[in-house]
Amino acid sequence: MDILITGGNGGIGLAMVQAILNTMPDATVHATWRSKEPEFQHNNLVWHSLDLTDESQIENLSKRLSKLDWLINAAGLLHNQTHMPEKTIQSIESDFFLESLKANTLPSLLLARYFQPALKQSEDSRFAVISARVGSISDNYLGGWISYRCAKAALNMALKTISIEWKRTVPKCTVLALHPGTTNTPLSKPFQRNVSPEKLFSPEKSVQQLLNVIKTSSSDSTGQFLAYDGTELPW
Ligand SMILES: NC(=O)c1ccc[n+]([C@@H]2O[C@H](COP(=O)([O-])OP(=O)(O)OC[C@H]3O[C@@H](n4cnc5c(N)ncnc54)[C@H](OP(=O)(O)O)[C@@H]3O)[C@@H](O)[C@H]2O)c1
Repeated sequence: MDILITGGNGGIGLAMVQAILNTMPDATVHATWRSKEPEFQHNNLVWHSLDLTDESQIENLSKRLSKLDWLINAAGLLHNQTHMPEKTIQSIESDFFLESLKANTLPSLLLARYFQPALKQSEDSRFAVISARVGSISDNYLGGWISYRCAKAALNMALKTISIEWKRTVPKCTVLALHPGTTNTPLSKPFQRNVSPEKLFSPEKSVQQLLNVIKTSSSDSTGQFLAYDGTELPW
């Protein structure tokens, strides 16, 4: 199997790379990093540098990978060095809102665009994106985290739309939006205080559950928004 994991240097992304290499010995894993090349190496692993906000870099990588069975996008952004997620409308700033869309939404559309031919070469492919439950519109009871919520809601719409088009054009590809559960990574670090220990997954646990969902999914579940335990989430 040929697998591409984007955001492979993140908490969930790197655990995903390692879990696949440990449990799927026949898989060749291509994984991408942006700011810091990971030290982890493996005979079946090829690292690529990729900034997902740069369309030309996505296009160039797609020219190097002619066939893919799985593409998993594990990159995302909740906060950066200068911005924490907004608590109120008064704290919305254009630049951070657009940065969130550029990191959380657009990359998956561009990955779908440029890797569609590679996924089409597989008899049973997956295009899975790590979304977030807070991107659910009907499940939004708390407000806040406005840029992230909007970007993940837009990501969910993108995934649904890709799945509808690909039912016709890439019918052997299952398209999924996945919620990993709250996972102990740099992204969630500042917000873990009120999370009970049993609800805070290690990256390894989170990835084990997500891989189970990815493996057991089939074309019947294309276009679904699924939690780590396989339950369907409301859009
Ligand atoms: N952790 C949670 O509790 C949780 C819950 C729900 C959903 N999620 C989602 O799960 C996914 C993975 O998050 P995580 O928890 O593993 O966070 P993380 O440890 O902060 O990893 C996020 C990764 O995304 C990469 N990234 C961000 N923007 C990028 C860009 N423009 N180009 C390339 N890579 C980029 C980061 O690269 P750099 O290192 O270069 O910044 C980092 O490797 C995200 O989509 C997140 O929204 C996480």
